[in-house]
Parts: sequence; C-alpha cells; structure tokens
Amino acid sequence: MIKDNQALAGVWVKAVSADVLEPDDAEKFEHDGLCIAVFNLDGSFFATAGICTHEHAFLSEGYVDGETVECPLHQGLFNIRTGQALSPPVTEGLRTFKTKVEDGDVYVFVEP
Ligand code: FES
Repeated sequence: MIKDNQALAGVWVKAVSADVLEPDDAEKFEHDGLCIAVFNLDGSFFATAGICTHEHAFLSEGYVDGETVECPLHQGLFNIRTGQALSPPVTEGLRTFKTKVEDGDVYVFVEP
C-alpha cells in the first residue's frame, strides 16, 4: 500500500549537470519512456515535455529566445515557463515539470 502511494507521488530525477547546460541552451533526457527537455534561462532551470505537440521534433534542438523556444521543425513557439503554445502551427501546450538544483545537478520532478 505504501509502495502505491509512493508511486503516485512522483520522483525527483537527475537530468543534467547544471554547469554543462549553458544559458539559453537545452538538453533532453528520458525517464520511463518520457522525453523531457531542460532549459537554462539566465541561470534558472525549467523543464517541459521534450517533444513538440505538433509533430515529432525535439525541442532541445530548438532555438531559445528569452522565455520561448522555437520548434526546429516548423517554428512553432512555446513559452518555456508555462508550456503555453504561442504561435501556429502549435495549438496544444507542453507539459511542464518542477525543477531543483542539488549538488550541482538539475533534478526534474516527474509524476505518473
Ligand atoms: S513539429 Fe513542432 S511546429 Fe511542427
């Protein structure tokens, strides 16, 4: 029973070393089959779903400008902090995840 509750609570997953991820840059990683993109915005870290909601493109390979990322495939824009879709052809927002930095590593909180 306790095990089930723990599974529902989610887990902090080590994503990337904080000093490897430069400002305005992104990295992707996978956890349990989920692709997640981690972004460095002026030293603050944010995480979103790693794959565009329009078609299959990795947002970690997109262009980061301020708080937005431009999809590398068709240039749809997302807000990195909120996941909101900002311009066509994307209409569906991105899932977002909590982050923290501990001992020089960026962790992402992944809920089931
Ligand atoms: S795949 Fe991202 S905008 Fe089309």
